[in-house]
Amino acid sequence: MIPSDVFRELPSLTDDRLRLVPLAEEHFDGVRRMVDDPVVRRLTGTHRTFTDDEVRQHLATRADHHDRADWAITDAGTGAFLGEAVLHELDAPNATAGYRIALLGPDVFSRGYGTAATRLVLNYAFGTAGLHRVGLEVFDFNVRAQRVYEKCGFVREGIYRSALYSGGIWHDVIAMGIIASDPRSG
Ligand SMILES: CC(C)(COP(=O)(O)OP(=O)(O)OC[C@H]1O[C@@H](n2cnc3c(N)ncnc32)[C@H](O)[C@@H]1OP(=O)(O)O)[C@@H](O)C(=O)NCCC(=O)NCCS
Repeated sequence: MIPSDVFRELPSLTDDRLRLVPLAEEHFDGVRRMVDDPVVRRLTGTHRTFTDDEVRQHLATRADHHDRADWAITDAGTGAFLGEAVLHELDAPNATAGYRIALLGPDVFSRGYGTAATRLVLNYAFGTAGLHRVGLEVFDFNVRAQRVYEKCGFVREGIYRSALYSGGIWHDVIAMGIIASDPRSG
């Protein structure tokens, strides 16, 4: 059993290129840009829009939520905001959480950041937090994200048929998961 406030002391996570730091108000400009980006919105299924106050309020309250882990993905050299990675929907008795990630926008896609950030989060989730399982959902047309998750060790577990209406047609939603004993690279 893991504690329900397992993410209370959220560490920064680093590799040679990235530094994941607790998401906070200082990341407003980047988050504002990310949640407004039309490509990111389509790939994450974001329908609603957010006011500046809502974004600020979200950022200001992240540190108060100890049942989830919100990181800003930043450039280890410059500190520039590159995106966010989140462990959420903690189910403490079952040592399970959900995962989501979004980068700032197409300018920073396909440079390896998503793979590297996901590996850092999984190392933390299984190595430090003691989670047993991490799950996620991804849209059938989001092939880049599926590739990243598979590279990091997530396994396709099932399909929610016609669960998303986007661009005038119905799409399947793919369920993926990784458990602590699954092989992982990185
Ligand atoms: C999904 C996301 C986090 C991935 O991060 P990224 O930094 O862009 O991805 P990476 O560079 O680490 O890896 C991309 C991989 O997908 C592959 N890829 C890219 N486009 C692809 C395509 N159209 N078809 C198949 N593979 C593709 C790349 O070749 C690479 O795999 P490889 O290393 O084996 O060559 C990022 O693109 C993103 O934030 N997208 C918008 C939000 C989003 O989709 N979030 C996930 C919601 S479930």
